[in-house]
Amino acid sequence: MEYNVKVWRQKNAKAKGHFETYHVTDVEEDASFLEMLDILNDQLIRKGIEPVAFDHDCREGICGACSLYVDGRAHGPDDAVTTCQLFMRHFKPGATITVEPWRSGAFPVIKDLVVDRTAFDKIMQAGGFITVRAGSAQDGNNILIPHDDAELSMDAAACVGSDLPKRHIAPRQHIKRPLLAQWRDERQTLLSQNHSLHDSAILP
Ligand code: FES
Repeated sequence: MEYNVKVWRQKNAKAKGHFETYHVTDVEEDASFLEMLDILNDQLIRKGIEPVAFDHDCREGICGACSLYVDGRAHGPDDAVTTCQLFMRHFKPGATITVEPWRSGAFPVIKDLVVDRTAFDKIMQAGGFITVRAGSAQDGNNILIPHDDAELSMDAAACVGSDLPKRHIAPRQHIKRPLLAQWRDERQTLLSQNHSLHDSAILP
């Protein structure tokens, strides 16, 4: 999909800023807003234009670094999401999207879409935060699993922890019993050939 991105450009804190409109192409509807900006920057660089500076860190909706004003709204048109979790499917193909920095007197623009957050940092350093229990993953020790499955998982961990080739490393959900049996055999063979192989893991 294609969009017109009307973005705030400002060389530095003292320079006068202005809007520039760029045409960005080849954006997937499932791309995040920041990925769209990445694509825009890639296209700008290829044309010899300086890329747009913007803040980001986790890109997982956790850190809050990606604060932007999109179409006049903090974080854009979707509700209760950070800009990095805003997706291009929320915009009509061909739309003109206005992107501004998250600016205020306390957060002056440093460059383009990046603001100086020193004022906020000072508040945090002074202990100006609250503790909120927002939930967390359940303690793994509280999740009971059948004994056989636990044994198989330990075998997989033993193989991964050993010097077996990387091709054996697979996400847990992809672990299959025949493959584990093969890992176990290969590990036994390796152990019999090389007694210095790390052997802290459990063998059957
Ligand atoms: S980059 Fe961390 S919340 Fe968006």
